[in-house]
Amino acid sequence: MAYSVTKLDDYSPAALDAAVRDLLSAVTQEAGAVIGENDSKLFRDRWMARKNGILTQINDLWLKAAPGPAKREVGARVNQLKTEVERAVDAAQQRISNSASKSRFDSERLDITLPGIRRPLGAEHPVLRTMNEIVQVFRAMGYSVAEGPEIETDYLNFEALNFPPNHPARDTQDTIFVAGQERKPQRDRLLLRTHTSPVQIRAMMATPPPIRVVVPGKVHRADTADATHSPIFHQVEGLAVDSNITFSDLKGTLDHAMKAFFGSNVKTRFFPSFFPFTEPSADVSVTCFKCGGKGCRLCKMSGWIELLGCGMVDPNVFQFVKSNGYDSRKISGFAFGMGVERIAMLKYGIDDIQLFYQGDVRFLEQFA
Ligand code: PHE
Repeated sequence: MAYSVTKLDDYSPAALDAAVRDLLSAVTQEAGAVIGENDSKLFRDRWMARKNGILTQINDLWLKAAPGPAKREVGARVNQLKTEVERAVDAAQQRISNSASKSRFDSERLDITLPGIRRPLGAEHPVLRTMNEIVQVFRAMGYSVAEGPEIETDYLNFEALNFPPNHPARDTQDTIFVAGQERKPQRDRLLLRTHTSPVQIRAMMATPPPIRVVVPGKVHRADTADATHSPIFHQVEGLAVDSNITFSDLKGTLDHAMKAFFGSNVKTRFFPSFFPFTEPSADVSVTCFKCGGKGCRLCKMSGWIELLGCGMVDPNVFQFVKSNGYDSRKISGFAFGMGVERIAMLKYGIDDIQLFYQGDVRFLEQFA
């Protein structure tokens, strides 16, 4: 039965003490039953509400109603009860708010000994990394860097590089043409550049001699993808034009570049070759950096690995940029071009070019 205040009819100290005991045991018991914020508020109101709380009731029913001679005794006890009830209410409230903040602490607890969340670090793609490394070797020799568009005109990709219309050398370039261009003159037709060489022409149109540029970039050819071919790949082109540039400058430059890139003990070898825009032209091989030239599977037992094409700029090419100061009687130059994927594959021992394009993290993270 819930405690309720009743009028006193016996004001003897013993009776008063008994009434006090009853009330205290009731408040103690009710305080113990308080388990939440809501309980605690109801408990406070029941005992302490100014209007009709139990303290107010004992004030009215016990003290005010007490006959004069008993008022002192009753007053002392009512005061004592007030103190005790307030203490019980406060204690209950404190207990509830402690446990509320404790459970908040528990739920928001941070275990600083747990391992952190590791965010995987990105890495430069091996193709871009190789391309940047090649560019860096030439930048260190004073070359500047130029870029050009991947959609190029027939004129810049072929004609100004001394591939005349219908010349069979065009067939070696497996060109992807932009559709619907038939009504344009051939030289204006658009295609996906098959090499970075058109940027030689762009660079010479933009800058009079002397010039030294390297041109990293993406190129396209109608090749079926296999372990060594991809319809999209990357090249780094180089061009140096000045007075008195000779084939030995070309040899010295590329020999230095290959040593800087692959290590100072590689040797280079130049073979006669053909490109329409260079004369004479050469293919460059380096001693196999795996076996050191003794012969192994990588170099097909030859001791040499063929790496790039180069040559002296054909005077016919200068004709196309003559108006910008390129007079083949006064200046000469050399050019070279290399495939980035091929070099990256050789350098890192990768046997399938497709690995570069598949985005497999297990492959890529080896370059982190
Ligand atoms: N453009 C040639 C190719 O893609 C490479 C090259 C560049 C050769 C410059 C000579 C000089 O095959």
